[in-house]
Amino acid sequence: MTARARTLENQDELLEYRLSLRLGPVHARQRLGIEREAEAKVFGQDHSSFHLENWATAPGFIRSCLKLAGLWKRGQNNSRRLNTVHNRFHLPNLPAAFEGYRILHLTDLHVDMDEANLQAVLREIEPLDYDLCVLTGDYRKLTWGPIEGALDGMSRLRDGIKGEAYAVLGNHDSIRMVPALEDMGYKLLMNEMALLGCEDQALYLAGVDDAHFFKVHNLHRAGDNIPAGGTSILLSHTPEIWREAAHAGYDVFLCGHTHGGQICLPGGIPVTLDSDCPRSLGRGYWRMNGMQGYTSPGAGTSVVNVRLNCPPEVTIHTLTRGPDSFVDGRLMRVPANADAIEQR
Ligand SMILES: [Fe+2]
Repeated sequence: MTARARTLENQDELLEYRLSLRLGPVHARQRLGIEREAEAKVFGQDHSSFHLENWATAPGFIRSCLKLAGLWKRGQNNSRRLNTVHNRFHLPNLPAAFEGYRILHLTDLHVDMDEANLQAVLREIEPLDYDLCVLTGDYRKLTWGPIEGALDGMSRLRDGIKGEAYAVLGNHDSIRMVPALEDMGYKLLMNEMALLGCEDQALYLAGVDDAHFFKVHNLHRAGDNIPAGGTSILLSHTPEIWREAAHAGYDVFLCGHTHGGQICLPGGIPVTLDSDCPRSLGRGYWRMNGMQGYTSPGAGTSVVNVRLNCPPEVTIHTLTRGPDSFVDGRLMRVPANADAIEQR
C-alpha cells in the first residue's frame, strides 16, 4: 500500500471515529456503509427501484428533450425566480410565548447545482423577518462524489441566514458533511430533539436523518424525550414517513424532497414526485391522521436546473393558537375552510 493510500485510509478511519462519537457507532457505520455502496451507482440500494437523481445520463437526456420542445430557457429562468410563500399552522395548544412565531423553511437547495439559483435564494431571504430557520435536506447537487462544492455554498448561505438554523440531511447529502456543517453553525438534528424556549413555554423541535434512500431515520430516538401534550415539530427530508410521524404524536411535519414535481404539466400536475406517499403530500399544506404538514417544493433544482409549472419557494410558517390572533399588531384570521394561506 502506498503512503498516500495509507493516509487516505487513516483519514477515513478518523472521520468514522469522529462521526461515531457524534452520532453513535451504529448510525455512523450504517450511513457510511450505504454511502460507499451506493457511490456512483445508477440504481438504489436494493437494485430494483429506479432513482432518477442517480441516473448519470439523465441531465443530458432531459436537457435535449426540453431544448427540442423550446422549453429550456423558460424553465431555467423559472428556476431562478423565487417566491416567498406564507403558511400558517393553527395549533390550539401552542404555548403563549410562541404565538406568532415565524419559521423560515428552506429545502432542496442543491447549492452547487446553479450559482444563479443560490444567489436568487440569498436575495429572497435577505429582507425576510423570522424567529428561526429550518432546513430539510438535499444541499448537494449529486447523490455521490465530492462534498466541497456543497459545503462552500452552504457556508455562504449560512452567512445569509439570521439567527439559529436547524437542519436535517437528505438523500443527496453525505454524512461526511456533518462536521463541517456544524462548524459553520448549522444545528443538525440527527434523530435528535431540541427544546426551544423554556420548560413551561416550550416548543419541541425534532429532526430525523434521511428516510427516503438511506432509511436511517429513528423517530424513537428523536421523540422519546418530548413530553405528552408538548407542542412538537418534526423535520424530515421526505414526507414518506408521514404515517409513522402522525402516530408518534407530532403536531407539525415539515419536509421537502419532492420538488413539487419540478417539471410539471400545466396546472402544476407533477409527472413524478420520486416519493412513496399520497400525491396530496407532494406539495404545500396537508393534514393527515390529525397531524398538519407542509411539503415545500424547495428552492433549488435537481438533475437539471429547470422548473416548469412549479415555481421554487422559500416558506415562512407562522404558528398561532387561533382562530383569530394578533401578530405584530395585525389581526390574522384563520379562514373557515383552510389552515394555510399562500401569498404569491
Ligand atoms: Fe431528496
